[in-house]
Amino acid sequence: MLLPSPRTKGRISVEEAISSRRSRREFRDKPLSLEELAQLLWAAQGTVLPRGMRTAPSAGATFPLEIYAVVGNVAETSSGLYHYNTFNHSLEKLSGEDLRRRLASAALGQMMISSAPLSLVIAADFARTVNRYGHRAVQYVNNEVGHVGQNIYLQCEALGLGTCAVGAFREEEVQALLKIDQVPLYIMPVGYVR
Ligand SMILES: Cc1cc2nc3c(=O)[nH]c(=O)nc-3n(C[C@H](O)[C@H](O)[C@H](O)COP(=O)(O)O)c2cc1C
Repeated sequence: MLLPSPRTKGRISVEEAISSRRSRREFRDKPLSLEELAQLLWAAQGTVLPRGMRTAPSAGATFPLEIYAVVGNVAETSSGLYHYNTFNHSLEKLSGEDLRRRLASAALGQMMISSAPLSLVIAADFARTVNRYGHRAVQYVNNEVGHVGQNIYLQCEALGLGTCAVGAFREEEVQALLKIDQVPLYIMPVGYVR
């Protein structure tokens, strides 16, 4: 499914987004729009000019990160698991199961994940960066997820939404749930804040 084009003008300045950013853990039962989902995915890992470069920096442009969307309540988008295709700004549906409760359980029962309309999971294929940088790659990939996480935080603020970086989860359980070999590094539930 091709996504709506991202906007590069927002309602607030980057300074306002930085100063209002907080981790938000209580979400309203209000759907996100497809435009909001698309904007968040683009902020996380979309492409920008020059062609092929991305919204977040990457060591040697090795781009080890992949974004998965666990959708529960997003307009025009049925519940399920999706993978974001950076190259053509589209979503590929991987499963039609609403995984939010099971994802919350894998995250040690952090129920904000089951109440949020959406969670973004940032996962890494370390080999892409290890091939170039050897043991330094572990540090680089972990640095990169911080960049992506901050983009999601600031994009949420600019859209009037909230998120929380969740690092406490059982890695193998998340991998099994998403059916991925990549290593999940962050779960970021997103929604309108209560
Ligand atoms: C690496 C990392 C892991 C985190 N994991 C969790 C988590 O599992 N659950 C949670 O509620 N918050 C988590 N947080 C959010 C922090 O608790 C939060 O950033 C901190 O309390 C400061 O609050 P602020 O983000 O509103 O400034 C995590 C933050 C980071 C940077």
